[in-house]
Amino acid sequence: MIVKGRTLIDWEEYMKRLIIAGIVLLPVVLWGAAPGEQLSYSGDLEELVVKRCGDCHSTKEPKANLVLVKGEGYGNLVARPSVQVPEAQLVVTGNLEASYLWKKLMGETEIGKGMPRTMFGSKRLPEKELDLFRRWIEDGAKP
Ligand code: HEC
Repeated sequence: MIVKGRTLIDWEEYMKRLIIAGIVLLPVVLWGAAPGEQLSYSGDLEELVVKRCGDCHSTKEPKANLVLVKGEGYGNLVARPSVQVPEAQLVVTGNLEASYLWKKLMGETEIGKGMPRTMFGSKRLPEKELDLFRRWIEDGAKP
């Protein structure tokens, strides 16, 4: 009986601790993906853009005259007219559908291919990365 009783108490204690640990850790887990948090180019996008796009959109002979290297991407994307469709802007703050960059990422443009291009055409970015671009533009495309 005593042994059983102790096991029971330990189990309850264990559950309590588990719940407390869960409550304490929850904000930490949510922090990284909190939907309300505003994304910034320098903090959330730049590293990805440099990695995925910087080889072709480099300083030396940039494709489509678009330079996306570190320190220059933001100014060359936001509120800048597209060379392919001059009446469109690459990133219209807060307006995903009007942003030509988004059309390129979705592979929906009539001129050229979807981005990023590869040797064999184009490859759509993973959903998680597209989501970062989407949230950043919708949130007002902060620097
Ligand atoms: C393998 C080379 C390559 C990579 C990698 C690449 N691009 Fe491009 N990009 C091009 C070429 C070539 C063009 C022009 C032809 C076309 O649109 O297909 C272009 C055109 C563009 C344009 C149109 C520019 C304008 O002013 O109209 C945008 C926007 C763009 N790229 C964004 C990106 C982004 C963002 C990435 C990374 C996710 C990326 N590109 C990765 C080669 C590349």
